[in-house]
Amino acid sequence: MPKTKVSRTEDFHLNLKRPEYNMIGEVTLSHILRYENDFIRSGLPYGMQLFDSLYSSDSIQEKPKILEIGIGLAQVIDRFDFRFRDVDPILHQNAEYTLVDLSESLLNFANMRFSLTRRNYFNTIKADATNLPLKPSSHNLIISNEVMADLPTVTNINKRKLRRELRTGKNETKIKNKRDRKAYQDTVRMFKQYGLQFKDAPRFFNFNYGGIRLLEEMSRVLSPGGTAFIVEYDCESQPFGYPRPLRLINHTEYGIRLDHIKTAAKGLGFQIQDGYAHEFLNIDSSKMMVDTEALGILHRKLIDLRDKKPNSEFLMNAVGMTSPKALTRKQFSVIIDELKWLEKQEEKEELLKSTMRPMSDFSGNFKYMLLKKT
Ligand SMILES: C[S@@+](CC[C@H](N)C(=O)[O-])C[C@H]1O[C@@H](n2cnc3c(N)ncnc32)[C@H](O)[C@@H]1O
Repeated sequence: MPKTKVSRTEDFHLNLKRPEYNMIGEVTLSHILRYENDFIRSGLPYGMQLFDSLYSSDSIQEKPKILEIGIGLAQVIDRFDFRFRDVDPILHQNAEYTLVDLSESLLNFANMRFSLTRRNYFNTIKADATNLPLKPSSHNLIISNEVMADLPTVTNINKRKLRRELRTGKNETKIKNKRDRKAYQDTVRMFKQYGLQFKDAPRFFNFNYGGIRLLEEMSRVLSPGGTAFIVEYDCESQPFGYPRPLRLINHTEYGIRLDHIKTAAKGLGFQIQDGYAHEFLNIDSSKMMVDTEALGILHRKLIDLRDKKPNSEFLMNAVGMTSPKALTRKQFSVIIDELKWLEKQEEKEELLKSTMRPMSDFSGNFKYMLLKKT
C-alpha cells in the first residue's frame, strides 16, 4: 500500500546557486509573457499588465503596503513597480514593498536588480510562505504568482482512513517523520475546518497542504479591505482532477486543486472573484503561439549553441535568456531561418504547422483568484 508522505521542494529552492539558470525548466504563464509581447492586448509585459488589472479592480490602497510571496527572478514585481510609478506617481510615493522568498540567492538577485535601478523601497525577507514572520494585518495587497505548486503537498492520502479519522477523531495514519506527521494532522484539521470534499478522489490522492497554509497566512497578514491575488496551474481538468506530480529540474511540483483552495478561502471569510488568468490579464487566448514543448526544445538548443555561434546573442534574446518566451508564428519563422535549422521550405512549413496552438491551450490551465478581506 502506498505510504502517506509530504513532498517538499525547499531543498531545491534553498540551494539555488545560479538563480537565472535554475528557472530554465519553468515554463509558466508569467515567464513566457515577461517581456513586451504580442499576446497581452495592451502590449505590456506580464507584471505591468498585472498592475493595470489590479489598479482597475480597486486593489491598490492610499498607502500601498505590498507583499509579494515567492518572487522568482523578481520579473513580475519589477515590471509591476515601474508601471505603478508611471501610472500613478503620487500614490507610488507612498508604496512600500516586502518581498518574501525561501531562496537567498533569488533575494540577492532581486536586490541587485533594485539597486541597479536605484529603488531602495523594497524590503526582502528570507522566509517560508507557510509560516510568515509578519505581523497580523500588516499589508493591504498580497501577490503570489505561480507559487502554490512549489509548496508542500501531502501525497498518497488514504481516502478511507481519512474518512474514518474525520468521523472518529482518531489518527490511524502512521508517519515516522515528525514534521510530516504534523503536516498530516494539520491536513485532517483543514478537511474538517473547511468541509473540503474528497468524494470524487481516487483511493490514494494528493492534497495541496502548503497552498491552504499559504491562504491562512494571507488571511492573517492582510488588513481588512485588503486584497490577495493568486495565479496557479489548476489540476482539475487533468485525469482524476487531483494534484499530480510534475517533474522539473531537480524537484517535483504538484498542480493545484483550486476548488479546495476556493472552499478554504470562503471558510476564511474572503470575498472571491475567480476565473481564467487570461481573462484577468487581458491576454488574447485565441491567438496562435508556438507550443510550449517546441519552445522548450528550441530554448535548450540555443543554450547548447551559446558561445559557439556569432549571432547567438540575437537568438537568445529572441527566445529568452532564462526561460523561453511566447512566440508567434512570424517570430518562430525568423528564428528558424537565423538558425538555419531546416533547409527545405516544406520542412519548415510542417514544423510551423505542427507546433502552432491557440494560446488558450496553455493559458487555459492557469486560473486566478482575487480575494478581498472584508
Ligand atoms: C515558480 S516561481 C514563481 C516566481 C514568480 N512569482 C514568477 O511568477 O515569476 C516560485 C517561487 O516561490 C519560491 N518558493 C518556493 N517555495 C517557497 C516557500 N516555501 N516559501 C517561500 N517561497 C517559496 C521559489 O523560490 C520561487 O522563487
